[in-house]
Amino acid sequence: MTVVASKYARAENDLYQTEPWVTEALLRHFPVDWMTVWEPAAGNHLMADVLKEKADNVYTSDIAVYGRPHDSIYDFLKPHGVWPDVSAIITNPPYGKGNRQARLFAEYALTRCKGLVALLLTAKFDFGNTRTHLFRDNPRFAAKINLVDRISWTLDGVTGTEDHAWYVWTEKPRLPRAPVILYAGRSQ
Ligand SMILES: C[S@@+](CC[C@H](N)C(=O)[O-])C[C@H]1O[C@@H](n2cnc3c(N)ncnc32)[C@H](O)[C@@H]1O
Repeated sequence: MTVVASKYARAENDLYQTEPWVTEALLRHFPVDWMTVWEPAAGNHLMADVLKEKADNVYTSDIAVYGRPHDSIYDFLKPHGVWPDVSAIITNPPYGKGNRQARLFAEYALTRCKGLVALLLTAKFDFGNTRTHLFRDNPRFAAKINLVDRISWTLDGVTGTEDHAWYVWTEKPRLPRAPVILYAGRSQ
């Protein structure tokens, strides 16, 4: 994710932790009560902790451990043969160069979960012409939640220069209507 100027080193493994209000904003529009959720890039569980307040069960995995233990160490970008059977995948994935890791995360998430998939990505992520299969041409793409407040990736209130949004895919192909655009912020 673009949170610092390119002359600075990026965090190892793209560990940028998500302030709780960001996940709460998603859940206001897409509740996960009674769902089984997989957080596959769990980091230090800032997102998982908010999900656990509502979901029936939250399964955590990551390629690395930063303190909080995960249910498993799992490289989400490798074509593993097995994965947990869940009703939702929700995460803030690593973005990678040119957002390539983020695109792969979206593709694998949609393959591995036929229910709700919600990814926190940059606000223009859906503009790429290599991503039309995820958005314009994808009948599961249901909503984009534009975050009207900027996220502090340093968790100290200092915000970056990048806008972000939640991208949400749902279980059933959408009706013959366009996906919706919603708005959310720290307090609404
Ligand atoms: C942007 S952080 C998000 C952390 C957490 N979801 C949050 O929002 O607080 C990205 C996380 O992805 C993990 N990660 C990077 N590559 C991965 C991969 N191939 N498979 C699984 N996790 C990966 C990193 O270790 C890091 O914890």
